Amino acid sequence: MEVNKLNGAPVSASEFVKNEVAADAANAIEVAHIVKKFGDFTAVDDVSFQVKEGEIFGLLGPNGAGKSTLIRMMTTLIPITAGSARIAGHDVSKEPDAARRTIGVIPQALTSDLDLTVEENLTIYAKLYDVPTKHRKEAIEELLETVDLTKWREAQTKTLSGGMRRRLEIARGLVHSPKIFFLDEPTTGLDPVSRVAVWEMLTNIKSKRKLTVLITTHYMDEADRLCNRIAIVDHGKLVALDTPEALKASVPGSNVIEVQFDNPPADWEQKLRALLEVTSVQNESAGMFRVLTGNGSRTTTDLVGMAVEAGVPVRTLTVQNTTLDDVFVHYTGRQLRDELVKAYSFMMPPRPGMQP
Ligand SMILES: Nc1ncnc2c1ncn2[C@@H]1O[C@H](COP(=O)(O)OP(=O)(O)O)[C@@H](O)[C@H]1O
Ligand SMILES: [Mg+2]
Repeated sequence: MEVNKLNGAPVSASEFVKNEVAADAANAIEVAHIVKKFGDFTAVDDVSFQVKEGEIFGLLGPNGAGKSTLIRMMTTLIPITAGSARIAGHDVSKEPDAARRTIGVIPQALTSDLDLTVEENLTIYAKLYDVPTKHRKEAIEELLETVDLTKWREAQTKTLSGGMRRRLEIARGLVHSPKIFFLDEPTTGLDPVSRVAVWEMLTNIKSKRKLTVLITTHYMDEADRLCNRIAIVDHGKLVALDTPEALKASVPGSNVIEVQFDNPPADWEQKLRALLEVTSVQNESAGMFRVLTGNGSRTTTDLVGMAVEAGVPVRTLTVQNTTLDDVFVHYTGRQLRDELVKAYSFMMPPRPGMQP
């Protein structure tokens, strides 16, 4: 058992150790004032950032934020309206072939061929990328091992679960040993166990290869655990960029109290806001408040005292450290999970009594 240097808590070997990036690493990706318009609509609006060699860089944002459009531009799949992107030193508009040779791409939609076996899917890609025959066998062998699909090599791809298919596609994206790996929402739609398996796979791959990773996600926990730095994108704009730790520290308040009251009076939100150390209050739904504070235990005591005095029953109360969710609310004024519920609500059966 190792000891996690950051907080001294014991962690098992399978638990997460963050990727380290050399301080003097060169830039693998340089995006400058990049814009994408579809007709009159601006999907990506003047975004600039750099990713260092060896870094795991996350693009985080709700559906429609422009994450896939950014990836498509960086990977030469769609033309850039304005600005520029350099991948491993190659301008994607001027030297698309040179840029393409350095990258591996896992698009958002699953694209492996269902009628082929696992191994055939990898072999076809290796041939497409001119991986020399001698290398091909070796590379495929190693990758099957890495993504834990060796015993499924003969299986038809259509018989795999979603998580296994994702792992196959990750292996496929690496057969030509790219330097820079783009993954567009690799874990969306996977169950929690498969999501963790994909994270482990990526960390495992990172430890064996010199690889820069750009990953998009709308899962906060994923970005937090995996990424060295995170860019929060909303409505095509970059609204914040830093390490997860620095982003969390940039939000005023260090604890979040989620508390549900029974029939609080109309001025309750103001009263909560007036408590010592409270930096912001959001009324999420009837009686439900999200309170950010610099001192969780003090505010909890004061808040419960105030409720008892006013005869307002407290139904539930939780105190947590600030998370990237709070960072998202801070920079965009909205909850990421609300945005996702909106985006995916068409997929859910209507609840009784819900308006059509
Ligand atoms: N080919 C296209 N034509 C028109 N609009 C598009 C096209 N591709 C994406 N968009 C729009 O651009 C915005 C960003 O989309 P996308 O990059 O797919 O977002 P994300 O990947 O963050 O969910 C969305 O509003 C989407 O509808
Ligand atoms: Mg997308």
